[in-house]
Amino acid sequence: MECNRRRRSRSRQDTSRGIDYISRMPIEVLLHIFYFLPLKYWIVMSLVSKQWKYIWTQISILTLDEAELVTGIIRKEISCLSCIASLNHHICQCHQHAVNAARRKFAEIVDRILLFHSGCTIEHFRLSCHHDNQEMYAPTVDKWVQFSMTSNIIELELDFSPGMPNNYYEMEGLLVKRNIDCQQYALPRHAFQPKLLKVLTLSFCKFEATSYGAFKSLKRLSLYHVDILDCSIGDLVSKCPALEDLSLKYCFHPEKFFVCKQELKIKYLFLMHCMTENRAMFPIDIITPNLLTLTIVGSYLMSTSVKRATKLINVTIDIEQRFADHAQGNFLASLLLDLFHCHTLALSSWCIQVLPTGDGLRRQLPLPFRNLKHLMLHVGLVKQELPGISCLLRSFPILESLQLKLCTPMNVEWDVFQDMIPNIFELEAQSYWESQNSPFHCLQNCLKKVKIYGFVGQNTEMEMVKFLLENGIVLETLDVYYYGLNPWASTQEALDYKWFQFRNLVTLMTLPKARSQARVKMTKVYGAYMSVAY
Ligand SMILES: *[C@@H]1O[C@H](CO)[C@@H](O)[C@H](O)[C@H]1NC(C)=O
Repeated sequence: MECNRRRRSRSRQDTSRGIDYISRMPIEVLLHIFYFLPLKYWIVMSLVSKQWKYIWTQISILTLDEAELVTGIIRKEISCLSCIASLNHHICQCHQHAVNAARRKFAEIVDRILLFHSGCTIEHFRLSCHHDNQEMYAPTVDKWVQFSMTSNIIELELDFSPGMPNNYYEMEGLLVKRNIDCQQYALPRHAFQPKLLKVLTLSFCKFEATSYGAFKSLKRLSLYHVDILDCSIGDLVSKCPALEDLSLKYCFHPEKFFVCKQELKIKYLFLMHCMTENRAMFPIDIITPNLLTLTIVGSYLMSTSVKRATKLINVTIDIEQRFADHAQGNFLASLLLDLFHCHTLALSSWCIQVLPTGDGLRRQLPLPFRNLKHLMLHVGLVKQELPGISCLLRSFPILESLQLKLCTPMNVEWDVFQDMIPNIFELEAQSYWESQNSPFHCLQNCLKKVKIYGFVGQNTEMEMVKFLLENGIVLETLDVYYYGLNPWASTQEALDYKWFQFRNLVTLMTLPKARSQARVKMTKVYGAYMSVAY
């Protein structure tokens, strides 16, 4: 159909033969069209017309993705579907040679594109190729990296993900690097000094930072599954004087990487599941007067100090771990005290349980947070979280909005480290909120908005809501979001659930309120379902 229509319209145009609209297009438009075409079509296009032969040498957005191209070639050459499906995981022996041939082809294409590139400024360059043990073109890849570091590139993304996804395994709840022969690709040691480079993203590789020159314009550095073999954050930042945004996810770094005595100018720091070669914990001791956002996601906390962070806006501390000892309560408290200028704070359930076990933190932090307006807590509303929640509410006298994101309830375990269960947890969960007789300033003066996500309707949740409504003297809205039941539930179950939530609504509506105008609203969240039995 489509084909026929096209043929007809072409024969109609034959009368105006000779006018080649495409060749008359402005070069910017052509480059734009090229950009949206997959790599292999560039090669075809460049054969079609003389004018186009080298047009791609001027393209300003270059994406060279091995997986995309190899999959394309293989799909044409082999028919074994299961093999295609497993292309990214393991490659069947029988088709290894087809894959190798396709990879060689990819290497040739990249070589050609880079060799002929005009040298014009490239806005965005992404190179993604697999790195594995039978590395057949490591020297070639070195050459490509050399190109990318010495050309006029503004945003550069280099991804050397291995063919195998299981480079890490879990041991006693920790993510440990598998000690296999499969080595990360090592970036060539060379005193690169890319002048225009503003954004650099590296994935699945390792490098020695001391071997590089200055990255004068670099503003954002994102590392994902990268081994930093030497240096400290101070050395790194001194090579990148304009650096504002540093993000490390699943990276390995030297033991003292985050210990630095000099001031760091960075504004955004994002650390997620980083570790040293042997341990998931490492000290952090930095001075960051310009820091706006700090995110730490991990499984342990040790001595962590972030000094002079007076401009802080957003802080997220998300530690997820089954165990704790009370020393970590002290580490967390001292970190939070460093961050007391922040405006928004998000904490995980582990942090909430560990915080009040620190020395002298039973009731509140020793310093009131004078800027903190928004608090976001991931809670299961288990007994061990209650002292932490009230400690936080007491410490934030100008809090305006509170968000509770309900997650799977879990009490942190203490005894594994021969630590006693701190006696602050000897409490009666049912009557906890009623028993709180010292005041919460935020509830009396400024807490206006409460949002509760993932509401199920259990007693602990009702107790919490009851407490907030009864004490929220200036409360304006309390929004409760609940999930629908899974779509495969029986009609009877669905009916029961509807009735259950209706009863919840009635309960919520009839709870006594300190401020009669406070609006309570229950909203069903679509697209997500209840996973916990209610
Ligand atoms: C802080 O977080 C809020 C909400 O997520 C966001 O809108 C804002 O841009 C963030 N500010 C900074 C400085 O990162």
